[in-house]
Amino acid sequence: MKRTVVAVAALLLGAGAVMAQQDLVKHDQETMKANAKNLGGVMIAMVKGEKPYDQTAVNAALAQLDETAKKLPTMFPDSMKGAKFEGDYGPSPKVWEDKAGFKAKIDSFAKVVSEAKAKIKDIDSLKANAPAIGKECGGCHETFRLKNS
Ligand code: HEC
Repeated sequence: MKRTVVAVAALLLGAGAVMAQQDLVKHDQETMKANAKNLGGVMIAMVKGEKPYDQTAVNAALAQLDETAKKLPTMFPDSMKGAKFEGDYGPSPKVWEDKAGFKAKIDSFAKVVSEAKAKIKDIDSLKANAPAIGKECGGCHETFRLKNS
């Protein structure tokens, strides 16, 4: 009897861990999609003249990217290793194999975003600074993101 209880408890705990892992995956993907929306759909759209310059929208986009920079160090915990990422992309195993390299990318992204926050005041400074943010996204993805086949 006691043994059954323990076994059931272990099963439940196991299920809890899997659930939490899928929640983390979903959170990561939503954060990354929000990054793309804020950089591409807001800032780059203004650079291209597809949207009028709007400082409030730029500030909100930069605030979200800044938030991402703060969250990134905890977005890929060891417990997530091997988790299934549905959709087009997932993390490379290098995220866990080269933690120092991954952290360096996070730090450099954080730096560029905070510089952009200080510098972007109008369309010209947006044009001058938004591409540098895109380079940081690409710089991390190049090594640490994989396309699902
Ligand atoms: C420090 C590394 C790092 C930085 C910086 C970074 N990303 Fe990512 N990104 C990842 C990893 C790892 C994945 C794969 C996991 C995932 O899909 O959530 C990813 C996935 C994505 C995805 C695919 C999400 C999906 O549907 O699964 C998009 C879109 C994306 N990133 C956009 C961006 C944009 C835009 C920026 C810059 C504003 C950015 N990322 C900055 C590491 C990074």
